Amino acid sequence: MIGPSTRLAALLGDPVDHSLSPRMHNAAFRHLGLDCRYLAFRVSGERFEEALRGLGALGALGANVTVPHKERARRVVDALDEDARACGAVNLVLFRRNGSAAWGANTDVAGLRATLDELPPPRREGALLLGAGGAARAAALALAERTEGNLWVAARNPERIRDLEASLPGLEGRCRPLAWGDLPPEPWDLLVQATPLGLPSRPWDEAYLSRLLDAAPSRALDLAYRPEGLTELEEASRRRGIPVASGRRLLLHQGVATFRLLTDREPPLEIMEQALEGGEAS
Ligand SMILES: NC(=O)c1ccc[n+]([C@@H]2O[C@H](COP(=O)([O-])OP(=O)(O)OC[C@H]3O[C@@H](n4cnc5c(N)ncnc54)[C@H](OP(=O)(O)O)[C@@H]3O)[C@@H](O)[C@H]2O)c1
Repeated sequence: MIGPSTRLAALLGDPVDHSLSPRMHNAAFRHLGLDCRYLAFRVSGERFEEALRGLGALGALGANVTVPHKERARRVVDALDEDARACGAVNLVLFRRNGSAAWGANTDVAGLRATLDELPPPRREGALLLGAGGAARAAALALAERTEGNLWVAARNPERIRDLEASLPGLEGRCRPLAWGDLPPEPWDLLVQATPLGLPSRPWDEAYLSRLLDAAPSRALDLAYRPEGLTELEEASRRRGIPVASGRRLLLHQGVATFRLLTDREPPLEIMEQALEGGEAS
């Protein structure tokens, strides 16, 4: 029951109405008997800093930050963990932690490492990353550690690819830019999709999707996910027998890393997984 000692954890983003994070974290709080609640708040860019400082003043446990505020959050916090510093984006702010009033972490990178580790081992070297935004930067950081060979990056904006290569550790000499729609001119193995393509309002160019999968990657990861059903990339990969990890796995593993930092408790992974898949009410 909510009472005077209930602690708040929050999600700040715009939009947040389809977020599964409240369901996942509240199930975990309930399972461990923690007097905490996780709520999602839609906050505009102009009011983001005010909202974050307000949560700190209220003694909240912390706040997840999502699109479009992850880079803004990095500028507002007093200190950063290593992954947040490397990707230039913060997706979790903890208040009065590690000697800081607001400490910024990036648990997307931990989530990506864990999600990549669940896929079958590679058949050969080389990965293709689609997109060069915030999530792609987190993916590139995890890919630099988890893969060998070239990392091909296809994006509409070549500037953003150059920036990704220049600022991320571990990619020196391995990052190969590609124009959007082009395929690597050499064999590659892992496809990582880090654009909004596949969200209900963002359909794929079917011909491009077919060309990508016909190039025969042995595994795929789609960061985009739908609250219900599969994305086009998940569906098309399954049809071809290519093992594909859903963005929901990333959400789960990101959530596990977030929960650990918020509560200093070992997260109940199965409970969080059931809440995501089974739709348990919060
Ligand atoms: N599963 C999870 O837990 C999780 C976590 C984080 C993100 N995500 C997913 O990752 C996606 C990307 O997030 P983000 O934070 O990186 O966003 P972002 O910073 O806005 O970057 C989006 C990237 O996608 C590109 N893009 C957008 N629309 C496109 C289109 N129609 N065709 C080709 N490229 C397009 C952008 O290119 P331009 O620069 O040219 O616009 C940019 O490179 C989100 O939509 C979300 O679905 C999932």
